[in-house]
Amino acid sequence: MDELGKVMAAARTAAKNAYAPYSEFHVGAAILTTQGSIHPGCNVENASYGLGICAERNAAARMALDDPEDRTIKLVAVSSPNAAPCFPCGACRQVLREFGCEVVVVEDPDEESGMRSLPFEEILPNSFGPEVL
Ligand code: THU
Repeated sequence: MDELGKVMAAARTAAKNAYAPYSEFHVGAAILTTQGSIHPGCNVENASYGLGICAERNAAARMALDDPEDRTIKLVAVSSPNAAPCFPCGACRQVLREFGCEVVVVEDPDEESGMRSLPFEEILPNSFGPEVL
């Protein structure tokens, strides 16, 4: 399995642990860092609905915790078994942007490879980031 295949497999595995009793929309994400680490995350909802966290931000938080020296995101893979493709929400795009994410890969049954890759600039153009401050 190539590297991208491994990252998407981690996202698929993470989606199995989604805690989504309210939406029943299961999402798994996996971040690949520039140094080659893979950090998975799933969505975790809450009875107080607004407190739920998306899979992508959960993965970013785990990455930040795991290794402060390896916090640059090469790509994020998103798996959504209920309905694919699932693109990161606006809040997640901004959080991924913070850590320099270059590419977003979503599961897409319409593609021969089963995946679709997009340059990050395409999903969050003209973005605001840490280097501005
Ligand atoms: N969700 C994610 O985890 N990632 C996305 O990219 C889109 C939406 C979650 C949030 C919520 O738990 C459920 O999916 C339905 O919106």
